[in-house]
Amino acid sequence: MAAKIFFNLPGGLKMPALGFGTFDSNDETEVTVSLNTALEAGYRHIDTAYVYQNEKIIGNVLKQWFASGKLKREDIFITTKLPPQGVHPDRVELFMKKSLENLQLDYVDLYLIHLPIGFKYDESAGRVKVNEKGEIQFEGKTDHAAVWRKMEEQVDAGRAKTIGLSNYNISQIETVLKTARIKPANLQVENHVYLQQTALVDFCHKNGITVVAFSPLAAPGHNKFAEKFGQAAKELPDIIAKKHSKSPAQVVLRFLIQREIAAIPKSITPKRIQENINVFDFSLDDNDMKELKKLDVGEKARVVDFSLHKGIEKHPDYKVKG
Ligand SMILES: NC(=O)c1ccc[n+]([C@@H]2O[C@H](COP(=O)([O-])OP(=O)(O)OC[C@H]3O[C@@H](n4cnc5c(N)ncnc54)[C@H](OP(=O)(O)O)[C@@H]3O)[C@@H](O)[C@H]2O)c1
Repeated sequence: MAAKIFFNLPGGLKMPALGFGTFDSNDETEVTVSLNTALEAGYRHIDTAYVYQNEKIIGNVLKQWFASGKLKREDIFITTKLPPQGVHPDRVELFMKKSLENLQLDYVDLYLIHLPIGFKYDESAGRVKVNEKGEIQFEGKTDHAAVWRKMEEQVDAGRAKTIGLSNYNISQIETVLKTARIKPANLQVENHVYLQQTALVDFCHKNGITVVAFSPLAAPGHNKFAEKFGQAAKELPDIIAKKHSKSPAQVVLRFLIQREIAAIPKSITPKRIQENINVFDFSLDDNDMKELKKLDVGEKARVVDFSLHKGIEKHPDYKVKG
C-alpha cells in the first residue's frame, strides 16, 4: 500500500506526513542537538507549542539554518499551539504574537488551539491564575465560535498560513464548523495502534480536515510513568516488524501514514530520530494493516491525560474522547 509523503492543506501548503515532536524537551542543549540531528536527517515538519517552553530554542536553531542558506523558510513546516491561557477571544492574538516572537518567525504554517478549554490568565503578572492551593483556575464554557473567529484573524493577518484544533472531539469540531469562515485545516489528537479513533478520523477526513497523531508510538516514555503506578507497559508489535526487517516503531508510524494520518514522533536519541523518519522505504500489505487494526483497544490505551490539571474533568468542554 502506498503512503503519502505530504498531506495537502489549504493554499497549496504541503504538510510532511512525518514530523518531529518536541514535547517534554526544553533543555537548551538537548533541543538544539536533537533538532539539528532531525533537520540533518531530513525532517521538515516540526511540532511545538507555547506550553512546551522550547519555541525560543527552536527559533534559534532555525535562524542558524536560514542564515547558513541550508534551509529557506518555505522549506519547513512549523506548527505551534495556542496555550489554554490563550483560549479566550481577547487573548488569541496576544499568544500568537508571543509564539512568533519566540520562534523568530513572521508566520507559522499551522496554528492549533491546544485544548478546547481555557485557563484564566493574569495579564499583568504574565501567568496562569491559580487559587490559594496552587490549582489552575479555568474559564467557563468555551465560546468556540468567538475563539475561532480570532484564529481566522491570524490567517487574515498573515501570522498563520493555516489554523486547526487539538484535543477536540466530534461535537466540538462540529460547533466550530457551523460558523467557520475558514475551516479548520487540521486536528491533532492522540492516535496510535492501541487507540485508533476511527470514527473521529473518518469524520475529519470526510470534512476535509487532515489529522496529525500525537504520541504516535503510544509514548514509550509514558510507560516508565505508567509502571510507577502499577500499570503494564505497552510493547509495540514486533512480528510484522521482523517480517519487514523494520523496527516496531517504524511499523506503527507507517501504519498511521497508510491510514492517511501524519505522525510526529518525539525523540532526543540520534539513532531513533533517524529510525523514525525511515518509514518511506517499505510498505504494509492489506494483511499487515488488518492485523494492526486488531490491536486497537480504545480509550483504555490513552496515554496523555489532561486530568493532571486538578478539576479539569468538571469543565463543560472536558470531553476529549472522539
Ligand atoms: N497536542 C497535544 O496535546 C499533544 C500532546 C502530546 C504530544 N504532542 C506532540 O506529539 C509529539 C509526540 O508525542 P509524545 O512525545 O507524547 O510521544 P511519542 O512520540 O509517541 O513517544 C516519545 C517517546 O518515545 C521514545 N521513542 C522515540 N522514538 C523511539 C523509537 N524509535 N523506539 C523506541 N522509543 C522511541 C522517546 O524517547 P527518547 O526521546 O528518549 O528517544 C520518548 O520517550 C510530542 O513531542 C508533541 O510534539 C501533542
